[in-house]
Amino acid sequence: MADQAHTIHPVPEAFATGAHVDAARYAEMYQASIDDPDGFWGEQGKRLDWIKPYTKVQNTTFEFGKVDIRWYEDGVLNVAANCIDRHLATRAEQTAIIFEPDNPEDPAQHITYRELHEKVCRFANVLLAQGVMRGDRVVIYMPMIPEAAYAMLACARIGAIHSVVFAGFSPDALANRINDCGAKVVITADTAPRGGRKTALKSNADAALLHCSDKVRCLVVKHTGDQTTWIEGRDVDVKAQMASVAPDCPARPMNAEDPLFILYTSGSTGRPKGVVHSSGGYLVFAAMTHQYTFDYHDGDVFWCSADVGWVTGHSYIVYGPLANGATTLMFEGVPTYPDAGRFWAICDKHKVNQFYTAPTAIRALMGQGPEWVDKYDLSTLKLLGTVGEPINPEAWVWYDEHVGRGRCPIVDTWWQTETGGHMITPLPGAIPTKPGSATKPFFGVQPVILDPTDGHELTETATEGVLAIKDSWPGQMRTVWGDHERFQKTYFEQYKGYYFSGDGCRRDADGDYWITGRVDDVINVSGHRMGTAEVESALVAHAKVAEAAVVGYPHPVKGQGIYAYVTLMNGIDPSDSLKSELEGWVRTEIGPIAKPDLIQWAPGLPKTRSGKIMRRILRKIAENDYGALGDTSTLADPSVVDELIENRMNRG
Ligand code: WT7
Repeated sequence: MADQAHTIHPVPEAFATGAHVDAARYAEMYQASIDDPDGFWGEQGKRLDWIKPYTKVQNTTFEFGKVDIRWYEDGVLNVAANCIDRHLATRAEQTAIIFEPDNPEDPAQHITYRELHEKVCRFANVLLAQGVMRGDRVVIYMPMIPEAAYAMLACARIGAIHSVVFAGFSPDALANRINDCGAKVVITADTAPRGGRKTALKSNADAALLHCSDKVRCLVVKHTGDQTTWIEGRDVDVKAQMASVAPDCPARPMNAEDPLFILYTSGSTGRPKGVVHSSGGYLVFAAMTHQYTFDYHDGDVFWCSADVGWVTGHSYIVYGPLANGATTLMFEGVPTYPDAGRFWAICDKHKVNQFYTAPTAIRALMGQGPEWVDKYDLSTLKLLGTVGEPINPEAWVWYDEHVGRGRCPIVDTWWQTETGGHMITPLPGAIPTKPGSATKPFFGVQPVILDPTDGHELTETATEGVLAIKDSWPGQMRTVWGDHERFQKTYFEQYKGYYFSGDGCRRDADGDYWITGRVDDVINVSGHRMGTAEVESALVAHAKVAEAAVVGYPHPVKGQGIYAYVTLMNGIDPSDSLKSELEGWVRTEIGPIAKPDLIQWAPGLPKTRSGKIMRRILRKIAENDYGALGDTSTLADPSVVDELIENRMNRG
């Protein structure tokens, strides 16, 4: 493993020649972006069409107590017009979206920019007819179907703020998000086929809406035609309405700083936060990173396999690619249905040029053997990307050899829901790669490594600490919905003057960055971000649970697994059936992605004398690394540790 990680993969010469950015250009542009951010970003902003051009570029401060982020603040634009209308003159008949359905026997759809324009306009008119106005919130709880993109762009067209909720979340999690952002409308579909099975999205929405204001309307896309309950006066048949409204809808002029969307994400404490992204700066950053990181050229077919429920789907299925007039592929299904060759069958069928996925998917497919990939023609692939979690060198090398066939640069892109787009990533024509390293910062991004104990900047090239960012970039989140205080406290309080990422990081002697994982109580399970506190509060909401502590542990496929220590109420006996009951409970409270992988019955938890749970010790035991527990002398009752070690669940 160490050897693989130390192998340097140079930029293929032919790739550098045709690339937007080669090594010399990267160095020159990066320097310019740091020396003169206003000049640099002022120029980059011109990649969009502005109804009223901006005269100011950057107006930002990271000063704790006064944090304020504005880019292009006096500019006026419409995001949907930038993603659709402005392409009509030159590429009306070009495919904007390729839709590949769950069932490979069903036909794929090719939606041109002209068709996209009409669909989005009609969808926007349906929203207007429901009284949705500029600034109103619209929750989108949809499968991976073109209507999800239409819904997002329809909101953008009329200035409504969308909040996409991943379709894997439970009714409770959906209700919390609808209520937190005060949505006027929820858009869903009847049922969602995935991997040959169906999720009852509409009935989940029905269950969620029992906990919401009765004014919330439910717009239903009849996708499969499956029977659902129907509440007259509340439920709206989107496709039927779309057929009857006007095919055109003017794009509303919006200020650059008007919110485009809210996306909920987990932190170390409390409920998920509504991350707010802007219209102008976000779109500039999404479009620019899509073009440069993936070296996207006109006519290429780009496929990001993420779900639109995550920021990756927002920036690299919808907004970035469409702003660039690209052809973007949307896949409804899963990598292993009908078999472990599905991803590669799709790359072959649609002649995909750039493919972007998560390490967890690569590891899962790697485990199925190379024959599933080797049998497909992948000669159209030019570039591969990964995102969401650190990639282990074995998976990187497998991806390179079996999918890229040794020809395709791999971009390991580090970023977050909060950053809107890529922050640390190789530019494929410019930067040599190393398996497991995200390598170098994107233009305008100034990563710093801080000493976690006192927060001072570690300036030596080779060093390790926590990752923070000095100064703003246009794609940065602007606030937490309804709670600017929380925004400041989460990202700007601990290390004054910096944006704190929550990740640990090492910089090697070449100045390449290696993300080492979260340093807070956030875990990353199959690329899904989760707060351990959320899973704990779900567990303690169960009547038989007295206390719970949740930590991550290394998992060969998921990256991290969820390990829960559970203390039962007095008089309740532990049993396997109670374990299943608790697993099912967490599924309904949050969703299947939060189901604990391992549950250990814990008669007691290690606590300090002041009652604080010592999570460090619990992490070590879950990692099966109990030989190095460190100082346990401050524990109120050190004997609980021996008991936990004795009965630990991960002995791998
Ligand atoms: C966290 C953010 C950004 C889109 C997907 C996840 C981890 C993300 C990498 C990478 C190592 C990574 C970090 C980060 N992460 N990309 N290339 N290498 N770690 O977005 O759900 O907001 O999660 O994902 O820990 O903080 P997210």
